[in-house]
Amino acid sequence: MFNILKNTKNSEQTKKAKIIALLNQKGGVGKTTMAYNVAHALKEQGKKVLCIDMDPQYNFSSLFGFTPNEDSFCIHQLLVNSVKELRPMHVGALLSEVMLETEKGIDLIPASQDLSGFELTVAGINSPRQLILKKFIEKNALDERYDYIVIDGPPTLGLLVVNILCACDGVLFPFIPDAFSEQGLKNIQNVLEDIEDMGIIKTPKVLGYIPNLFETRRKQARNDFDDIQSHFSDAHVFTPFNNKAHFAKSMANKKSVFDYTAKDYKELQSQFLHMTEHIESQLN
Ligand SMILES: Nc1ncnc2c1ncn2[C@@H]1O[C@H](COP(=O)(O)OP(=O)(O)OP(=O)(O)O)[C@@H](O)[C@H]1O
Ligand SMILES: [Mg+2]
Repeated sequence: MFNILKNTKNSEQTKKAKIIALLNQKGGVGKTTMAYNVAHALKEQGKKVLCIDMDPQYNFSSLFGFTPNEDSFCIHQLLVNSVKELRPMHVGALLSEVMLETEKGIDLIPASQDLSGFELTVAGINSPRQLILKKFIEKNALDERYDYIVIDGPPTLGLLVVNILCACDGVLFPFIPDAFSEQGLKNIQNVLEDIEDMGIIKTPKVLGYIPNLFETRRKQARNDFDDIQSHFSDAHVFTPFNNKAHFAKSMANKKSVFDYTAKDYKELQSQFLHMTEHIESQLN
């Protein structure tokens, strides 16, 4: 199912990859769904794309057909191996073996449940714990081999998310426009501000908020949406993604919306293509 990875350069060899992440502390808001389809939209536009799964639930990896087993290594071992101080814990995991070229022509560094031990594993090190992913990407010149790196995050606000925020150039926030989503979005903004205060890296750009699972038939939904939008007046808010059975079906079948030709999917395809155009314009 997967091919051995070739070590090639990106399409514009001197240019660094744009690294984007899908984040929200809240679960089930569509982070993985958006990451998967954004990656495919970028691929559709001829970009060389690497996906990194940073969620121990490994849903992103599963969508690409990867199922970890007891012997498989994932991003967790690669990150641990990249920290000199953790030498006693290093294992024989090579990037070239862990990284997969998926059927879709998108490369993937998968996750497994092992990643849930990341925070504890790196708790005692002296080097900056929040920069492990960033340094890993740079050390392996992953940013020179791809046009885009798309990172899917876990529904938490811990060290994994801080590592993602420190590694990426831009961040997208999918959210469900309901009365409960506001706090989660505020919390993540606070983390972004904390990172800015640390002053050690360039703070990632907020590329926009993605209203998802919008219930057009629920009257209150529009009010909740307007309420939330008023709090992010200066930020970009994408056209809402409605709660659509055919969208859920494509995910259940591990397919992107670009795998379908039916009219139902055309609207979704153009939403994602617009999103990538916006991302491209913001990160240039
Ligand atoms: N617009 C949509 N219409 C219908 N179903 C959707 C839509 N967006 C997401 N889903 C479905 O909702 C569920 C949750 O989505 P997803 O796994 O992407 O959320 P998540 O934020 O990544 O969750 P977690 O926080 O657990 O990682 C999935 O089953 C997905 O297929
Ligand atoms: Mg997810």
